[in-house]
Amino acid sequence: MAAIEQMPLMKSVVYESLRIEPPISLQYGRAKRDLVIESHDAAFDVKEGELLFGFQPFATKDPKIFERSEEFVADKFVGEEGERLLRHVLWSNGPDTESPTVGNKQCAWKDFVVLVSRLLVVELFRRYNSFEIEVSQSPLGAKVIVTSLKRARRPTIKTVDCQDNRQVRRPMRWATGGGGLSRRPTESG
Ligand code: HEM
Repeated sequence: MAAIEQMPLMKSVVYESLRIEPPISLQYGRAKRDLVIESHDAAFDVKEGELLFGFQPFATKDPKIFERSEEFVADKFVGEEGERLLRHVLWSNGPDTESPTVGNKQCAWKDFVVLVSRLLVVELFRRYNSFEIEVSQSPLGAKVIVTSLKRARRPTIKTVDCQDNRQVRRPMRWATGGGGLSRRPTESG
């Protein structure tokens, strides 16, 4: 957990995915009271009981907020300025900088969704050095087909062979023991 907090680019990639194609893009609801909804250059009077419909990408790809708003920019949310933009990432039914409350209907598991997405990216790059994909549209959104994968080489550690003092490289493997996930050299070497 501490390690993935040290990976700002990976974090940014996850937020950029949620920005460029919010998994739930269409939303609607009835106004519970009279209100005014403001855009950059207009204000709209909404009366209690009126039906409202929202299309998230209008907001999450707003060119007045995001430079190159139609492009996937992996490091968009890196650094102080990038992190400030997170208040415009709205996939969870509210700004990513806010938290769900009993009154705001923001996704109750928003932080969990982001965490699992980060773990998915980490696992992908832990297993594969590179991959190729084909992207197209489907009725449910983007369709992604993985066309080739290059398996990551297992990391090795240097050890000194006790018998003749030679330095040898041994591959490491993942192991789960009492203390959780750890790396250790394979017995076979
Ligand atoms: C990519 C995955 C997810 C997305 C995109 C997502 C998105 C959303 C959105 C947009 C809403 C607001 C719905 C509305 O009222 O219009 C919402 C609400 C909610 N989400 Fe998620 N969600 C995801 C995963 C989850 C998961 C895994 C859980 C729990 C296991 C969860 C629990 C909830 C709950 C309980 C609410 C209702 C909050 C309320 O009405 O006060 N969500 N989610």
